[in-house]
Parts: sequence; C-alpha cells; structure tokens
Amino acid sequence: MKTIKIGLLGMGNIGTGTYKTLEMNRTEIESTLDRKVEIVKILEKDTERDRGIAVPKEKFTQDPDEIFNDPEIDIVIELLGGIEPATSFMLAAMEKGKHVVTANKAAIAANYHKLMDIAKANHIAFKFEASVGGGIPILGTLLGPLRANKFHEVMGILNGTTNYILHMMTKEGMDYDVALKDAQAQGFAEADPTADVEGIDAANKLTILMALMFDKYVAPEDIPTTGITGITKEKIEEAHSNKCKIKLIAHAWKDDNDEIKYEVRPMYISETHPLANINKEFNAVFVKGNAVDDVMFYGKGAGPLPTGSAVLGDVIDIAKTVLR
Ligand code: HSE
Repeated sequence: MKTIKIGLLGMGNIGTGTYKTLEMNRTEIESTLDRKVEIVKILEKDTERDRGIAVPKEKFTQDPDEIFNDPEIDIVIELLGGIEPATSFMLAAMEKGKHVVTANKAAIAANYHKLMDIAKANHIAFKFEASVGGGIPILGTLLGPLRANKFHEVMGILNGTTNYILHMMTKEGMDYDVALKDAQAQGFAEADPTADVEGIDAANKLTILMALMFDKYVAPEDIPTTGITGITKEKIEEAHSNKCKIKLIAHAWKDDNDEIKYEVRPMYISETHPLANINKEFNAVFVKGNAVDDVMFYGKGAGPLPTGSAVLGDVIDIAKTVLR
C-alpha cells in the first residue's frame, strides 16, 4: 500500500488538531483512500510542549528546506498562521511541485492572485477549505455543487472568537476580557487576537468568499471594517431591550447596478433571526444564488478539531483526485 507523505508547517493549536484528527480517524481515512497517510516531517520550534498526543521527536525539524526538498513528500500543510513567512513557504513548496493545503486566511487574502497563479503555473493543487468557517464545508460547496449559480449575496458570522465573546457577554454576563481569555484558552483565537476582535479575520474570510463567489478580489484592508472592541454590556442590554442581539456580521452583496458592496461590522440582529441564535464559536453563512436561492451553512467556525477536519478533507480530496 503506497503511503501519502505529508510535511506539516506549524504545530500550534490547529497543527495539533490536524495531527489528532488523523490519529483519531486514521483507519477510516486510510480505508477510503486505500493508502496510508503519514505526517513525516513537522516544521516547529517548540518540540517540548505537551500537546496531549505523542509525536515522535525525529519528525520535528527547524529547516523548512528539509520539507520542500524531500522528494517523497506529496503534500505540504501550512498551519503557521500570519502572512509571512507562511506565504513564502507555500510558494516555495509549490515551486518544488508539492500540493499545498492551508487554513491561513490572512496569507490567502493578502496574496490571493500570487498563490493561485504559482499553483497553476506549477500544476499543483492548492486547497484552503479550513480558511473560511473552520469545519464548515463552504468553499468546496461554492466551487462544486453551487457552481452553476450567479451569486448575489453572502452574509454571515465568520469569526468564532468574537461570536464566542459576544455570546458569553450576552448569555453569561461575562466581562469582555474574561470571555476573550476563555476563547484563547480553547484555541479559537488567532495568535494575536487583535485580528479577531477588530474584525480583520472576518474581513480576510470575506475577501476569500468574494473572490470565489464574485470573481472579484478586494483586499481586506479595503473592506470597511469595525470590530467588537467598542461593544459594552450597556450596548448589549440596549440591544436586548429592542429584542435584538449584537453579532459581528460580514456582508457582501450586489446592488441594483450589479456593483459589489461589502462591509464587516457589529449589527443589531432581531432575536428571531437565525443568525441571532448562532452561539459560542459556531459560524453561520447565508449565500444567495440566482438558481438555488438561499442556502445556509452552519457549524463550528474555529477550534483545533473542526479545523483539522477541514484540513484533512482537503488532503483526502487531493489524494483521491490528483495523486492517483
Ligand atoms: N480566529 C478564528 C476565529 C479562527 O475565531 O474564527 C478560525 O478561522
């Protein structure tokens, strides 16, 4: 039985979640592929951290070229987070003919065309399902079963950390700082939570959705964006007295002139609206297509195992369709 060999860049929360998901479901994954799957090398400085799973020490390296230059490695999974060096590493892996899977919305949103072009030029698969909506299979669905549509609108809760914070402030009466610490401890937050709470992470995801749905690239810094740092208990109570909840909403839509509009901001949502009842780290996204009409996606938008699920889904897809 051939083995699909993987080089993993980064073993933080999501890298660990991906490794754990593979160990947890190895039998099913290998049986669906009729091949073994092994993470053979891991680029990671912190070899001592207790990850709750045994990782053989010899897998760790601090030299990315050991992964890019290994002719046996078929797929590189990039889970470092942040724009650099993640983008340069993905480009280097592509230039060496490795297929690339990533969860890194910041890197994709900043360098969308560059990554797509180099992937195409090198005839490799570049997949990033985990970058939007964590475990929710939205990107593959837009590019597959919903491909026959012209899209009019996308609207949703795309950041688990801020939804978790707003939920805990609303439902549990928690202070903002306590809820943020809790979200960080559970592995939802970005390395620097500013990206979450200022709405930047949601804007990165909206950039990716707009590129796929409208074939239009809008840099995240060009999306009008307001985060949740100004949301106080008083504002949440005021929303409640108007039978509303405050949610951080990412929204892009075509206006009557077919011009695409976009924004990320906290909004008052009626308590009866489905988005008002998306709790904790869950995400939900509405998409409107001209043939299918409304479709709603719902699931865990952050966290090591849900994100690991999407990462490995991409690996399986590459193994089934490209590595035959
Ligand atoms: N920090 C992100 C979030 C992780 O909270 O949604 C998943 O993209």
